[in-house]
Amino acid sequence: MIATLSRLDELRARIGEWKRAGLRVGFVPTMGNLHAGHHSLVKLAREHADRVVASVFVNPTQFGPSEDFSRYPRTPEADAAGLEASGCDALWLPSVETMYPFGAANAVSMHVPGVTDTLEGAHRPGHFDGVATVVARLFNQAQPDVAVFGRKDYQQLAVVRYMVRDLAFPIELIAAPTLREADGLAMSSRNQYLSAEERPVAATIHRTLLAMREGLRSGRSRDAVEQEAASQLRDAGFAVDYAVVRTLELGAPKDESAGPLVALIAAKLGRTRLIDNLEFEI
Ligand code: PAJ
Repeated sequence: MIATLSRLDELRARIGEWKRAGLRVGFVPTMGNLHAGHHSLVKLAREHADRVVASVFVNPTQFGPSEDFSRYPRTPEADAAGLEASGCDALWLPSVETMYPFGAANAVSMHVPGVTDTLEGAHRPGHFDGVATVVARLFNQAQPDVAVFGRKDYQQLAVVRYMVRDLAFPIELIAAPTLREADGLAMSSRNQYLSAEERPVAATIHRTLLAMREGLRSGRSRDAVEQEAASQLRDAGFAVDYAVVRTLELGAPKDESAGPLVALIAAKLGRTRLIDNLEFEI
């Protein structure tokens, strides 16, 4: 049976027992409404740890004022059942008051410089401060030996990596591959916002990422590849935030005939904003 814990002293006691027994603790932070992508993270954590804790917390500090915090889907019972089936030992389900005892507006806050200036950071001001703030809190609460994050949120992973190194968190980070639907659409809790007409169109994002890779491999310039990607998305009905090729550190590549590189897209279909990326060698 999975243990669902909402009090910090309970979480600490449970993890303390495991650590005293010499067990390695794995951690998977999420915002819930879990799908197979999240479950794959739990399974990967299992391979690197003896016990796995997943957290479900819809974090108010990472949502902008016009974003979907209040309508973000909350499905705690289904989440607990799915986590249990994936081999998770404990579900950390804190309230906003437990996570932010002085209130979210008064929280000690983290800012990771550099990597947050661009892409998602530029389109969602304050988003990564909220992510880093809550991940630092979760790390201090759970004190895991290893934590698993998805490559689906490429820039988030870069932000957490930077924070872990800079603040010397004694935590090993593991990057998990992106799980996709059969047509290539990256699994996401936001996919359920898509209408029946929008759903097949959403797979254009993955097809465009593949076309960007092929374009660069066939010797086209980065500019041309980025412009074609944006127009392919617009033709399909998206409002495009960005469709770009970057180095793995998210800088501008000096020589796009050399790899490895990452293509990243953020685009809105109707009311739903989707992100995806593809890492590749030339
Ligand atoms: P959430 O969007 O719930 O994602 C939780 C974890 O699942 C993240 O590491 C994300 O990259 C990973 N994930 C999401 N979709 C995936 C997919 N299709 N395949 C593989 N992994 C996938 O990311 C967050 O929550 C929050 O920002 C959080 C880190 C929990 C901080 O609040």
